[in-house]
Amino acid sequence: MTTKAFVIGHPINHSRSPLIHGTWLKEHGIDGSYEAVDVAPGELPAFFERLRRGEFAGGNVTIPHKEAVFALCDAVDPLAQTIGAVNTLVVENGRVLGRNSDYLGFLGNLDAEAPGWPEQLEEALVIGAGGAARAVLVALRERGVGCIHVLNRTLGNAEAMVSQIEGPFEAHGFDAFPALAARAGLVVNTSSVGMHGGRFDWLDMGLLPQTALVTDIVYTPLQTPLLIDAARYGLKTVDGLGMLLHQAVPGFEAWFGVKPSVRPALRQCIEATLDH
Ligand code: ATR
Repeated sequence: MTTKAFVIGHPINHSRSPLIHGTWLKEHGIDGSYEAVDVAPGELPAFFERLRRGEFAGGNVTIPHKEAVFALCDAVDPLAQTIGAVNTLVVENGRVLGRNSDYLGFLGNLDAEAPGWPEQLEEALVIGAGGAARAVLVALRERGVGCIHVLNRTLGNAEAMVSQIEGPFEAHGFDAFPALAARAGLVVNTSSVGMHGGRFDWLDMGLLPQTALVTDIVYTPLQTPLLIDAARYGLKTVDGLGMLLHQAVPGFEAWFGVKPSVRPALRQCIEATLDH
């Protein structure tokens, strides 16, 4: 019997997940399907009933449902609870289990593009305090980073976030950057700044150590102003597309029973769908 998986969202036509999973299904010769399903918020409970009846092995959840599906899942794993969002559903014996693979996607991307990055990494700067920042904090905590400084435009939002997640986190406003920069081995932008050409005027790359790694979770454009500035200073950079690709791995493995690889050809295929 064909194993079926899905991505639900509203709207859903921009999702690149069908292309990612479709490529892997073909590569592994699996009798499976992965389809985009447009589910309006009011239709979520009925969709979960279809899941419990066994129509799908599981699927991905995207905007605007990542928080709403929480209440509908039969169980949510502890890291997804900490992050406050579910992006992967796995159906087991008629029960719908919620997970979050964004933090694994973040780690998978850095592991692939900057091997050894956590070694000797004592302090990291995370810019932003939204949903994506929470996944990055959990990821850096998992890798044992000694001190993770969250810099946010609104200090109160950073303070609220770090008070909700256990870990070596400190909240700051952007004005703290000059005092923290020299010890920062990693800078991560989790905010949407960069999507439309924006940059952080206060972020003087010259204050970072030459060994610092700079990464952005924004992948449209692939080279954000932050990454362009960092590269000009000779710093190593990792773009955000790999996070999208790597976050898809755990779901595919759970539904189809094979752990897929993020190969250059897959990246090129998805890159070709991005606006340049
Ligand atoms: P997501 O859940 O996708 O991460 P979000 O919850 O809207 O998105 O979070 C957006 C983050 O980007 C916030 O940290 C926000 O800062 P504030 O807490 O001050 O709102 C940050 N952000 C968005 N636009 C920004 C801008 N123009 N300059 C600086 N920070 C910005």
